[in-house]
Amino acid sequence: MKRGVIFAMVGAVGLVLACTAYEMPEHREGAAIYEQNCAMCHGSDGRGDGEVAAGMSPAPADLTVLARSNGGAFPVSRVLSQVDGYLKGDMAGDDMPEFGVLLEGDLVPVETDDGIMTPTPRPLAALLAYLETIQR
Ligand code: HEC
Repeated sequence: MKRGVIFAMVGAVGLVLACTAYEMPEHREGAAIYEQNCAMCHGSDGRGDGEVAAGMSPAPADLTVLARSNGGAFPVSRVLSQVDGYLKGDMAGDDMPEFGVLLEGDLVPVETDDGIMTPTPRPLAALLAYLETIQR
């Protein structure tokens, strides 16, 4: 193989790596995080019917109607503060699982309701991206 071709290939791989580090995470990344941390209460499809949801008071919210109940716009700030508060342990309800890992990771910009780009840990941003895809 010609040296120029090899350089071009190495360059292309480098470019891809550089881009993935700074781009918004994909919703698939968030789906896995959701399944591990949220589905037991909110249900695999987000409708609030997870395994441990029965008998919980208040009941876990239906996460597929977040946008609908907010006039059609996905309420980024509300979700962020709810999940963040939950991570910090002050969500009303049951025992707190460990969610510290969600607050770790590179910061990526997430546009909150006020239009401000807010640096957000990548796993949390991925989770937001996923929740946005399950709105109905
Ligand atoms: C132990 C059960 C449990 C787990 C685990 C859990 N939640 Fe919740 N969640 C609840 C309950 C209960 C409520 C309703 C709280 C209330 O009304 O005060 C709620 C409410 C919410 C809301 C607010 C909905 C609204 O209408 O504003 C969001 C968003 C949310 N949860 C997201 C998540 C995400 C994302 C995860 C995973 C990181 C998660 N929850 C994990 C029990 C849980």
